[in-house]
Amino acid sequence: MFLYIVGLTVFFYVYRWFRELGRVPNKSEKFVYITGCDTGFGNLLAKHLDAKGFCVIAGCYTEKGEVELKKCCSDKLTTLHLDVIDNSSIKKAAESIKTLVGERGLWAVVNNAGVSFPTAPSDWLEIEDFKQMINVNLIGVVAITLSVLPLIKKAKGRVVNVASVFGRISTLGGAYCITKYGVEAFNDGLRRNMAPFGVKVLCIEPGFFKTSVTDSTVFESHLQRLWEKLPQEVKDEYGSDFIDRTMLAVKEKFEKMLDPDLMKVVSCMEHAVAAVHPRTRYSPGWDAKFIWLPLSYMPTFISDAFVLKDVVKPKVSVL
Ligand SMILES: NC(=O)c1ccc[n+]([C@@H]2O[C@H](COP(=O)([O-])OP(=O)(O)OC[C@H]3O[C@@H](n4cnc5c(N)ncnc54)[C@H](OP(=O)(O)O)[C@@H]3O)[C@@H](O)[C@H]2O)c1
Repeated sequence: MFLYIVGLTVFFYVYRWFRELGRVPNKSEKFVYITGCDTGFGNLLAKHLDAKGFCVIAGCYTEKGEVELKKCCSDKLTTLHLDVIDNSSIKKAAESIKTLVGERGLWAVVNNAGVSFPTAPSDWLEIEDFKQMINVNLIGVVAITLSVLPLIKKAKGRVVNVASVFGRISTLGGAYCITKYGVEAFNDGLRRNMAPFGVKVLCIEPGFFKTSVTDSTVFESHLQRLWEKLPQEVKDEYGSDFIDRTMLAVKEKFEKMLDPDLMKVVSCMEHAVAAVHPRTRYSPGWDAKFIWLPLSYMPTFISDAFVLKDVVKPKVSVL
């Protein structure tokens, strides 16, 4: 019986590996629109898909991002200025893309642009902090997708949404997990809506990787800024050394978890865009696979105990 199960498991993985090898043909006629290409995963993906022969349309937030990207890519790559929370910017980009792709339609959009700060205990934040992040990470994803969906339907193409493993388990204060849960929900609804049109909707759920969204210096500067604005009563609850204790924990634990190999994520993105049989979900990163995802399936009392064990407690904590 044991050997039978091992045999079946091995067969399943070999079959899946073989099935997932195939790539779509005619890459040089396929247009891929990526948001947030100035830095991080988006920037690497734009270069990677350009090298693979796709026609990349790279949405960049800054002019510097556009210039730098053009320098190291082929003439086939097009850049456009894109702010995913500005409706006129989204519309202008969609019109340029429509002209560029013509009758072929758009093969894929990769909703990658995102922000992660301020991340802090929720009682340190104001509603505007939540709204701003929700606008970029969630409304931005929906708005960009809707702006090009008719072109994707025309190509029977793909929508690739970059969520996070924190769209499966919520451990942080602030809006980040809220936005990523939202992206997961949008992704799943859209996948079922678009299936009849031959459009595939795929989700990337990375663990912790070393990019600007996980930069501890930026995290600390936001914490300091928020601390200055807190009422004395809340400062007394957390204790004057709260930020120091938090940053010590960040250095000792969180920074050690950061994976510097961004290609793990970019390879999943490439597979979602280019494979004949892409996966519905990708969870790059050892922490995503072995900690966060399993934890998300545990009963709440177990996941709470795991998360609370390491969290930096306020001075008045009763735990
Ligand atoms: N790194 C991780 O561990 C991790 C884990 C899970 C999920 N993710 C997700 O992966 C995606 C890419 O993040 P990353 O890690 O590669 O970090 P990143 O280097 O900061 O990339 C995010 C990109 O989005 C751009 N951006 C920010 N606001 C924008 C706006 N309003 N309009 C258009 N572009 C905007 C940023 O431009 P500027 O740099 O000019 O601000 C940046 O180029 C994000 O959705 C993030 O949530 C990251």
